[in-house]
Amino acid sequence: MEPLAKTGGLADVIGVLPKKLNEIGCEVRVILPYYKEVRNNLKRLKLKVRDLNRDVIVTIDWLPYKGRIKETTVEGVKVYLLANDNFYDRDHLYTTPHGDYRDNDLRFGFFSIGALEIAKALNFRPDIIHCNDWQTGLVPIALRWKRHYNNDLFFKKSKTVFTIHNISYQGLFGKDLLDKFGLSHSLFNPEQLEFYGRVNLLKGGILTSDLVTTVSPTYAHEIQTKEYGYGLDGVLRAVARSGRLAGILNGIDNEDWNPGTDKALYAHYDPRSLEGKYENKARLKNLLGFNTNGHVPLIGVISRLAHQKGIDLIVRALHRILDLGAELVILGTGDKGYERLLKQVSDDYVDNFRAIIGYNEAKARRIYAGSDMFLMPSRFEPCGLGQLIALRYGAIPVVRATGGLLDTIIDYDESRDNANGFIFDHFSEQSMLNTIERAITAYHDPPEWKRLVKNAMAQDFSWKRSSREYLDYYKTLFAGG
Ligand code: ADP
Ligand code: GLC
Repeated sequence: MEPLAKTGGLADVIGVLPKKLNEIGCEVRVILPYYKEVRNNLKRLKLKVRDLNRDVIVTIDWLPYKGRIKETTVEGVKVYLLANDNFYDRDHLYTTPHGDYRDNDLRFGFFSIGALEIAKALNFRPDIIHCNDWQTGLVPIALRWKRHYNNDLFFKKSKTVFTIHNISYQGLFGKDLLDKFGLSHSLFNPEQLEFYGRVNLLKGGILTSDLVTTVSPTYAHEIQTKEYGYGLDGVLRAVARSGRLAGILNGIDNEDWNPGTDKALYAHYDPRSLEGKYENKARLKNLLGFNTNGHVPLIGVISRLAHQKGIDLIVRALHRILDLGAELVILGTGDKGYERLLKQVSDDYVDNFRAIIGYNEAKARRIYAGSDMFLMPSRFEPCGLGQLIALRYGAIPVVRATGGLLDTIIDYDESRDNANGFIFDHFSEQSMLNTIERAITAYHDPPEWKRLVKNAMAQDFSWKRSSREYLDYYKTLFAGG
């Protein structure tokens, strides 16, 4: 949850959706692990944390594990933090540069069951328990299939909603997870928790929730196909047939992402006056050591360095992108292989390419503001927030036609009047290059480009619509009762 802990877009979503739901009449509480990063950010932001003087106990493998409940408030949203230093006082959230933490089953099983126990300890009876990604899979699984909870009157009226932010992360563990969390061995079959010899928490979450959502309409279709379903397409087709699957597009926080007020920028701007944007570009280029003069487009990439994001395509085509007469800056962190590769190629260029390895919010903001184009050649993209932020900052998205990218970007050649970016279909260097070339051609028609930038900046992908949509879906779960 932004600004407490973040590895990607999920944090943006949890940072704003609860706030927006509160505004339209819900009463939302967020539950997070008390990660080291959370503690540091609370300190940095000078946010007060209250120790509620209450513990919850979660039994794992017959042993009691204790968690302390803390509470803070972020922009009016009440947040409960489940503290257990042994599990969460670590440098990363789920994954280290060398791979996942080995005890993630315990860490997130403890979190999921702990969340239910927090609700009980505080006597907060939720109508809706809204879970996100595999880390929370054990919440609906326990409510449906764990003896202690499925007949617990406390949760009798609670409905569960499960949002898939990325189906490629599924939470796969050995069969012994069942023993650890007191689940029956009879659940270990392909119709329930088993997935090719392992326990799959995402699959369990999908099967046992009252409603499954994902973060864009196109992705809701894609995950029902072999190509994008990561082995769960059959399960999702069944869920869709039963009317339990919905695609709800994410938004962005328009107050937070606002080039008119963003404190990290060198100058502020808005669609009526783009002078500030040009100033941001000049300062950014200076910082990057790009000293080209003249009308050269600057392309930005801000991304987790993961297979999903098509970073390999950029690396392979790098030379040719620069040959098209563009400059490129990449800010990212993640997979060590990509980090190494980018550092290596970065050394070959000085004037027109830089790879900045690391996670840095202020730099990200300056790149969104200083770039003319924003490149996102994703293999798949459940929603994507990068392109939405880029639109808001007037960096024209050049994206691959998949998931939320397809739902938010309109190609320039498809409809000049409504266009806000450029799209390519085929995941290949050549189609990406052809599309970058189309964008560069448009860039060299300044009045036309300015029109495109203004159009992009005027788009509204705020949470207003999406939060209403979530609320409408929540309500369907209580229709008739
Ligand atoms: P994903 O969640 O798959 O990583 P999204 O596009 O939904 O992709 O969200 C990415 C979010 O993370 C955006 O807010 C983006 O600005 C931010 N981000 C990604 N990488 C970095 C980085 N290296 N430094 C700062 N912010 C980053
Ligand atoms: C995931 C997806 C991304 C989406 C984000 C928030 O990280 O990769 O596409 O925008 O979740 O839902």
